[in-house]
Amino acid sequence: MSKADVVIGCFYGDEGKGKVIDYLASDADIAVRATGGDNAGHTIRVDGVKYAMHLIPSGILSGHTIGIVGNGVVLNPEVLLEEIDNLTEHGYDVEHYLKISDKAHVILPYHRMLDVALEKVRKSRIGTTGKGIGPAYCDKFERSGLRMEDLCSDSLKEKLEELVASRKALLKFYDPENREIDALLDFETIYQAYSGYARKLRPYVCDTVTLLHKALEQDKKVIVEGAQATLLDIDFGSYPYVTSSNPTIGGILTGTGLSASDIGNVYGIIKAYSSRVGEGPYVTELLDETGDRIRELGHEYGTTTGRPRRCGWLDLVTLKYAKRVNGLTALSVNHLDTIGKFDKIQVCVGYDCDGTVTEDFSTNLEFLNRAKPVYREFDGNFGDISHCGSFEELPENARAYIGFIEEYIGIPVKFIGTGAEREEMLVRE
Ligand code: GDP
Ligand code: IMO
Ligand code: MG
Repeated sequence: MSKADVVIGCFYGDEGKGKVIDYLASDADIAVRATGGDNAGHTIRVDGVKYAMHLIPSGILSGHTIGIVGNGVVLNPEVLLEEIDNLTEHGYDVEHYLKISDKAHVILPYHRMLDVALEKVRKSRIGTTGKGIGPAYCDKFERSGLRMEDLCSDSLKEKLEELVASRKALLKFYDPENREIDALLDFETIYQAYSGYARKLRPYVCDTVTLLHKALEQDKKVIVEGAQATLLDIDFGSYPYVTSSNPTIGGILTGTGLSASDIGNVYGIIKAYSSRVGEGPYVTELLDETGDRIRELGHEYGTTTGRPRRCGWLDLVTLKYAKRVNGLTALSVNHLDTIGKFDKIQVCVGYDCDGTVTEDFSTNLEFLNRAKPVYREFDGNFGDISHCGSFEELPENARAYIGFIEEYIGIPVKFIGTGAEREEMLVRE
């Protein structure tokens, strides 16, 4: 029986998970998404064509890997159908290679409206993607959510009618100035749209838990495409500046139906620097021209919202925490090409809190706001590394940088990103 390998973001998202999944999918039978929704944006470049995947697992781009949208995902059918159309136009056989969990929850128009309205009334904004993720998970845990199996059932009209009426009242409470709520949440319009989505999506919906387990029993290769990241985790992230799911290892299990003993390698994904979109603490953030330079060299603009990403140096204190929480077995360091353009590179190896230095991360906001990064400096100027075919071919400075990360965290760096294209990745056996 085979084991499933997992890809998890270690910081605040956008570490290049999609690219690593795309590599792993070259010999994978199944790639499954476990959590989040279309707040995710995973970019893969194949032969110069850019694919921004929000819901469909990036693994499907191999052309022979089944993509599963797992039960832990909250799914906006309109966005999913757009993705299906886009991939079909690019020649992908989505009809045969996409499966959707009957238990995945459906995002409805009022989820997105509530997301935006709640941000407006918050004293401290979270900076959500506005995709309705938080409100959709609220409905799930409050036990009134609409699952894919409900969307595709005969009771859709009845269930939707009740939901739209109650959520309309809630929205009016949070957004009393909004005169368009009745028009935007007209029941007949929503029902027509969603019954149309149901007709198109019904063929994809199935019991993905059984599908996954049978695949492992048949020794098939299964990979799990984590979305978001450890510090955006509702429990282990910088709460409340987090997303509304558990993108860490526990959420991988509950979001797919895999058990702990089904898991093989757990790959932690990082960039050779760091970035964050949205609000919240960020100890190694650079609010100066170095931060601007990282943003420009790394093209750090959100895949989903287009927002400029906040940028800073790599933070090994955070990475150690991500290793502990997720049980990481190896790392992928992306954007080594980008960081190698700097003369000198800083890496955070401790947090100085009022004179006491610690290597232990805490999500306590007061602690994070007080913590000052303690840096260790490395030589950069790696030159053009895109032609390097192996770790040994990398310049000495680049190898020293990777070697230090391995030594500090205590696990190997298995993948190294040397550019955005599919082939620009070094794999160490
Ligand atoms: P994800 O959400 O974790 O999948 O990451 P995103 O796709 O949102 O952001 C990562 C960005 O970095 C994308 O634009 C990728 O094309 C790009 N990228 C990934 N790895 C590398 C790398 O090694 N070098 C360079 N230059 N770009 C990379
Ligand atoms: P991928 O999978 C980066 C951030 C948002 C915001 C917070 C809450 O591409 O790494 P939400 O809409 O989820 O309620 O927003 O989480 N966020 C992400 N940041 N990458 C992502 O996904 C993200 N998904 C959510 O910017 O700060
Ligand atoms: Mg992303």
